[in-house]
Amino acid sequence: MTKENRKFARVNDPQIDDAHAEIIRTMDEAATVTSKAGLLSVIIDIYKHASVHFLEEEQFMKDQDMPRDFIYEHSGHHIRLRKHIQSVIMDIESYSLDELKKLLNEMKDLMLHHIESVDSRMTEYLDP
Ligand SMILES: [Fe+2]
Ligand SMILES: [Fe+2]
Repeated sequence: MTKENRKFARVNDPQIDDAHAEIIRTMDEAATVTSKAGLLSVIIDIYKHASVHFLEEEQFMKDQDMPRDFIYEHSGHHIRLRKHIQSVIMDIESYSLDELKKLLNEMKDLMLHHIESVDSRMTEYLDP
């Protein structure tokens, strides 16, 4: 994991922190892509990484016996994030390359916001 990938909050679980770094790295990679086809493949990669990560994180919360309310609320955020990425994939034909890059930036902001404001709360329920 490179230093610049550590700009966001850490949960202090290596698997989760590495998955976050990988998702953000894939999102950063999109900035260098110059075709819509290339961007579509990066977005599909993001969708796959995020989907696997969300499931792992939901299992992690259950394994750690985190409160049901928190797991429920957190999983709801995951569903919305996944749907958001899915909707960009479904409508890809209607966007220009610049619009897609803008959407990817927004996607990155949403993901970073989720890590900062929701994922980071998992530390409250973990042993120090
Ligand atoms: Fe999460
Ligand atoms: Fe996460």
